[in-house]
Order: sequence, then C-alpha cells, then structure tokens
Amino acid sequence: MREHTVQQVTIVTGATAGIGRAVATELARRGATVWAIGRDATPTRDTARELSAATGSRVIPGIADFARLDDVRGLAAEILDRGDRIDAVVHNAGIVSRERRVSADGFELQLAVNHLAPFLLTYLLRERLAASAPARVVTVSSIGHAKGAINFDDLQSERAYDYRRAYYQSKLANVLFALALARRFAGTGVTSTTLHPGIVRTQLSHEYMGNPVFRFFESFISISPERAATHVVRLAADPDVAGETGTYYRGRQRVAPAAHARDEALQERLWRVSAQLTGVTA
Ligand SMILES: NC(=O)c1ccc[n+]([C@@H]2O[C@H](COP(=O)([O-])OP(=O)(O)OC[C@H]3O[C@@H](n4cnc5c(N)ncnc54)[C@H](OP(=O)(O)O)[C@@H]3O)[C@@H](O)[C@H]2O)c1
Repeated sequence: MREHTVQQVTIVTGATAGIGRAVATELARRGATVWAIGRDATPTRDTARELSAATGSRVIPGIADFARLDDVRGLAAEILDRGDRIDAVVHNAGIVSRERRVSADGFELQLAVNHLAPFLLTYLLRERLAASAPARVVTVSSIGHAKGAINFDDLQSERAYDYRRAYYQSKLANVLFALALARRFAGTGVTSTTLHPGIVRTQLSHEYMGNPVFRFFESFISISPERAATHVVRLAADPDVAGETGTYYRGRQRVAPAAHARDEALQERLWRVSAQLTGVTA
C-alpha cells in the first residue's frame, strides 16, 4: 500500500490507548503535527512525549475529560488560541460502561463521551475547520450502530439501562452526527466521514465482551489497533478519499450505513437535541 506524507495539523481524541494511540502514532510518523487528546494529564503528556520521541514529529498533549463539557470547551479554546490551522479531527475517544454512570453534566456516560463531547468539540472548532479547508472530520463509529435506536423518550437510559443498548445508541448517534455534519459543511471544503474500524483488541472491546470465554473467541476474529488505525488514517489523510463526504466505511470498504442512520429527519432531530443538551445553537 502506498504511503502518504502528511504535513498537517490533526487532532486525535482518545490518543492514549487502543486505536487512537495507533492513529496518532501513524499520523505523526507521516510528519503531521498531532494534538494527542486524553482525559488524564500524566498519561496524556507521557503519550505525547513518547510519540514525539518515536516519530520526530510535534505531538501536543491536550487534556480534556469528555465526561465534562467544560473540559471540552477548555480544550477547544486552547486549540483555537494557538492559532494553528486544523486539517483533520479524528473523533475516536470512546467508552463502554457496563454500569449506568453519569457525566459531570448529568448525562448517561456513553452518550456523553461518545457523542455529546465530539458534537460540542466540532461545533466549537467549526470556523477554524472551515478556514483551514480542505479539512476532514472523521468519526469512529461502530457496526453496532445498526442495532442502535435513539430513544428520545429516555435518552439518558434512566428508566432502563442495558449497556449494549446505550452503547449502540451512542454509536448510531456518531453516524447520524457525521452525516448531518457533512450536510452542514457542504460546499465549504470540510468533509465528514465515519467508519467501523473492525473488531479490535483493546480495553474497550474487553469491557464490551466481559465474559472471558467471549474474549477468548474474540481473539480469533479481532484485529490489532494498528491495523484498525490504517482505516482511520486513510479517511483522515489519504488522497484517494480527499473531498469525499457523508460516507461510511466498514474498514476499507465504503458501504451504506443502516437505513435508519440515513434518515435525515432523525439526523436533524438528534442534532437539535444535542445542541440543546450542550448549550449551543442548532
Ligand atoms: N475495539 C473495538 O472493537 C471497536 C469496534 C468498533 C468501534 N470502536 C470504537 O473505536 C473507538 C476507540 O476505541 P478503542 O477500542 O481504541 O478503545 P480503548 O483502547 O479503550 O481507547 C479508548 C480511548 O478513549 C479514551 N477515553 C475514554 N473515556 C474518556 C473520557 N471520559 N474522556 C476522554 N477520553 C476518554 C481513553 O482514554 P484512557 O486511556 O484515559 O482510558 C482511550 O484513549 C471508540 O469510539 C469505539 O467505540 C472500537
């Protein structure tokens, strides 16, 4: 496969572990300046230092707990303050939580971290992205989005909590968001794509599988974070998909997302609710 050097500024969330760390490493290895975003100061700074030493590229630590919208606002302000252009944002940070937990703002944790935080971050960076065009927003979703439903009557899973259902809801929200974003950025040179990276051996998939027997079988079908990262990096930086927007990939393969994820009325309804929950204008 041909490699492409990237002289860009890219933002990668969830850069301390798993797929995100592999994405940040690969982009830095290709020459990009990378904002490595993590929730805790020490591991995030360590990650940035290690990636920088390993690749020779500039890796800037950005600290924000996505379970706190104030942290997301602070991070956006820090990024904007530096005045750099933004060539790509990779929304990758994600969590599976077997117990129902709530964010600092009172939202169900998977919805907060997996969807509301990237929604708000994109909103706050939108003008810089447009000013940096061509620019790309890549949202790491999951094939699980197809099993998801947006439960507007109980969005925060207060009445009933099933961790898989809440996770699928958040991953469906990722696809709905990415497609609505593509429409909003149409004609600006900013693209929005989304993907299922594969079944990947990470902390998140261990948490999702839970049972050690399932984990054992998972090890036969799963891929490494580095392999999954190639799919993400392609959407963030490779020329063969430049200009492409509003598309969904399963690994390297461009496919249609689930029918309900393509429902524009649903995309717009979620957008309005997300704007209301994060306190921005729709
Ligand atoms: N693994 C799979 O099979 C699979 C399949 C489909 C989709 N995905 C998606 O791929 C993405 C990456 O997942 P992964 O498998 O690489 O998981 P991972 O190894 O567990 O990494 C998740 C990353 O998200 C960060 N994160 C978690 N909670 C956060 C918070 N509150 N604030 C900021 N950052 C937070 C983690 O930070 P810490 O290091 O501090 O925990 C870590 O850097 C997720 O969006 C996931 O839904 C994964």
